[in-house]
Parts: sequence; structure tokens; C-alpha cells
Amino acid sequence: MKNIVILGSTGSIGTSSLSVMEGLGPDYRVLAMSANRNTELFLQQIHTFKPRFAAVLDPAAYETLKTQIPQGTQLLPPEMESLTFLASLPSADLIINGLVGAVGFKPLIAAIKAGKTIALANKEPMVMAGKTVMQECRRWNATIIPVDSEPSAMFQCMEGTDANSYDQVNKSISRVFLTASGGPFAKRTDSLDTVTPAEALNHPRWKMGKKITIDSATLMNKGFEAIEIMNLFSLPEEKVQIVIHPQSLIHSAVEYVDGAILAEMSEPDMRIPIQYAITYPKRMPSPVKPLNLFQAQKLEFFEPDFERFPCLELALAAQAKGSIFPAVLSAADEVAVDAFLKEQIKFTDIPKLIYSVLKDTYGTSSQHITLNQAAEADAWGREKALAHLAEKKYTKAIL
Ligand SMILES: NC(=O)c1ccc[n+]([C@@H]2O[C@H](COP(=O)([O-])OP(=O)(O)OC[C@H]3O[C@@H](n4cnc5c(N)ncnc54)[C@H](OP(=O)(O)O)[C@@H]3O)[C@@H](O)[C@H]2O)c1
Repeated sequence: MKNIVILGSTGSIGTSSLSVMEGLGPDYRVLAMSANRNTELFLQQIHTFKPRFAAVLDPAAYETLKTQIPQGTQLLPPEMESLTFLASLPSADLIINGLVGAVGFKPLIAAIKAGKTIALANKEPMVMAGKTVMQECRRWNATIIPVDSEPSAMFQCMEGTDANSYDQVNKSISRVFLTASGGPFAKRTDSLDTVTPAEALNHPRWKMGKKITIDSATLMNKGFEAIEIMNLFSLPEEKVQIVIHPQSLIHSAVEYVDGAILAEMSEPDMRIPIQYAITYPKRMPSPVKPLNLFQAQKLEFFEPDFERFPCLELALAAQAKGSIFPAVLSAADEVAVDAFLKEQIKFTDIPKLIYSVLKDTYGTSSQHITLNQAAEADAWGREKALAHLAEKKYTKAIL
């Protein structure tokens, strides 16, 4: 029996994880789950999956839930310690981190320090301090299995390798192809100045939470993934080739030094990488319909347009600088995406706001930061981005 904790069970990753769990049968049990504000869905999930523990971070949601929780489930107080408690439960065999943004950082670290296996969808912590996170994994004997479809594809194409010794694997890898659908604006040639949140949320291939959907539209998501895989697999930037692949059927590929390319293909459905992370190293039948290659017909590949999508350049530049820059990038992006969704800034202001914060970033670039420094940089980046937003300082940024 595998006991599973799902952090962020009401989100897109969380609900797909539960859908996978339903199909896997009695050998897989939901031990605990967490949400934030979606009390109605959370309560339904608690009734269906009967977890031992449940937690919400939002105090109002806690007040709504506390009188309705069925017997057998313990509702924890609405505080970060409840999430770190769930992430390190001694009887948990796997922690699925489906939280969004930097809120997932502390629970991830708690899981690592408890030596857990973590199915990681929440990419922002890997952007903030991925190298340090991987060092901590080695120190505490914890394992990260990527859930994000592209890192998962690479993980699958590196199958048979020990997750803690990618340095060795890398000697035989010449390149990785990090694929991207290109988002809803890949084919548009007019100005993106007037893009509305509704247009940006209309992703052509994937149904996901709002933050990642906007990040996909700006291509920041691809920049984040480039950082994530560099940190996860110890890959230098020159080995990472970002490829726009509008069909989203190849989820990424690994090229070995002998010229062989291994690619992972399937229908674009997160339940495949989620299930693989849950059942790893086993493969089990999944609810996803098999890919029909005859219907797929063509596979296209293009180079990304860095000028039109400056977030990609910003992400790679922040990673190249190292130190706290990726953490500041991630924090500023969270503020910028939120401001765009609230219609406080234009779509094309998102990279400007982020750049205005990166330009002010303190410290010099170096390769190593501690987990505490990453958390401080996140708080600083958030505060700065909010200040620049209030002062409209970002309007002066020239990209
Ligand atoms: N969605 C995908 O297909 C996909 C694919 C690859 C990677 N990812 C990554 O996976 C992560 C999750 O993405 P998602 O699309 O599933 O996001 P989402 O749909 O927005 O779900 C986020 C989850 O986190 C909870 N949450 C949000 N803010 C919180 C807070 N302050 N405290 C505690 N819980 C909080 C939400 O609770 P409530 O709903 O109850 O408020 C929800 O359960 C992101 O890092 C994303 O980049 C997602």
C-alpha cells in the first residue's frame, strides 16, 4: 500500500492526481490533502477519499470547514506548519506537491528533510533555488520525481539512471529538447498590447491553473522549465534547446552523444506524468486515451521568438546570473501575473515589471545560495514588484 499526500488537491494537478488515484485501486491511498479556498470541492474530495488529515491555509475556509469535516479526518489549523506537517508525515510514502508559486517552497523543504519521495509539479521552488534543493535531496536521501510533463518526459527518457547521479548521465547526453506548445499567441503576428486575461487564459492544448496558463502565454513557463531541468538534471544551458512544437505530442526529448534521440510522446494529458510519478518505477494502465499516430499526421518544430516573448530571455538571463536572481524572477512573475489577471497592467507589461525588479536586484551573481537566502529573495522580489507596480516604475523599463 502506498500512502499519498496531495498538497493542492483542489487545483488542476490535484484533481488530476485524484482522478489517477481513483483508477489505481486499493494499493494507493490518499493519506492527507490540502487546499486553500475552494471549500466546496475540498469537502467533496474529503468525503470521497477519506484522508486521515486535511488542511486549508485560508482562515475563512477553515472556519467554513471546521464544523463539516466527517469523522475519521482531522482538520489542521490554517497555517504553514500544517502543510509542512503533511509534507513530512512519517507514514507518507509519496508527497505530491501541486501547490502553485512560492507557497510550495517550505512544504517541499520539509518533505526533503524528512527524506521523502516527492512528485513535484510545483516548479517555482526549483526556479528559486533548484541547485540547493537538489543538494538537500542528496543530504537527506530524498528523491524528486518530476510531474511537469516536460521534465517528466526527460526523466522517462533517462530511465534507468539514478536520480541523484545525473552528473554521470550527463556525460552521455549531448542535448535535451525542451518542447513548448507556444501558448495561445504563438501564431499571432499583431501587437500583444491589448491581449485580455480571457484570451491569455485560452490555452490551445492544456487545461491548467491560471498562473501557469498566463506563464505559458508569455513563455515564462518555458523559461521556468529550462531553469527547472538545468537544476534537476545538472544540465548546462548550452545543452538545452527550447523547441516550439504546436501539436504538444512530444513532451520533450533527450539526445545522446551517439546521435540517438529518445522522445516521450502521448496525448497532452497530465494524468500520464502524474501517474508515472505515483507508480514509479512501475507502469500501470491509465485512463488517458492512447495516441493515434495516424490522426496526429504532422509534427512541427520551430525556434522560439525571444523578441516577441521577452520573458524567456529574462528567465535564461536570471539563471545565468545565478545567486538570488532566479528567486527574484519567480517572485516578480507571481506579482506581475496577478496584476495582469486583475487588469492592473497590460500583457506586455508583465516582462517590463519583472525586468524593472531584476535590474534593482541586490548582490552579485554566484552559483550558491542557501534555502533561507532564496526565501528572503522571494520576499524581497515580491515587495519590490508591488512597489514598482504602485509607482508604475515598470513603464520606464526598456527591454
Ligand atoms: N496544471 C498543470 O497542468 C500543470 C502542469 C505542469 C506543472 N504545473 C505546476 O504545478 C503547480 C500547480 O499548478 P495548477 O495548475 O494545478 O495550479 P492551480 O490549479 O491554481 O492549483 C493550485 C492549488 O494550490 C492551492 N493553493 C493556492 N494558493 C495557496 C496558498 N496560498 N496556500 C495553500 N494552498 C494554495 C489551491 O487551493 P484552492 O484551489 O483551494 O484555492 C489549489 O489546490 C504550479 O507550480 C504549476 O506551474 C501545473
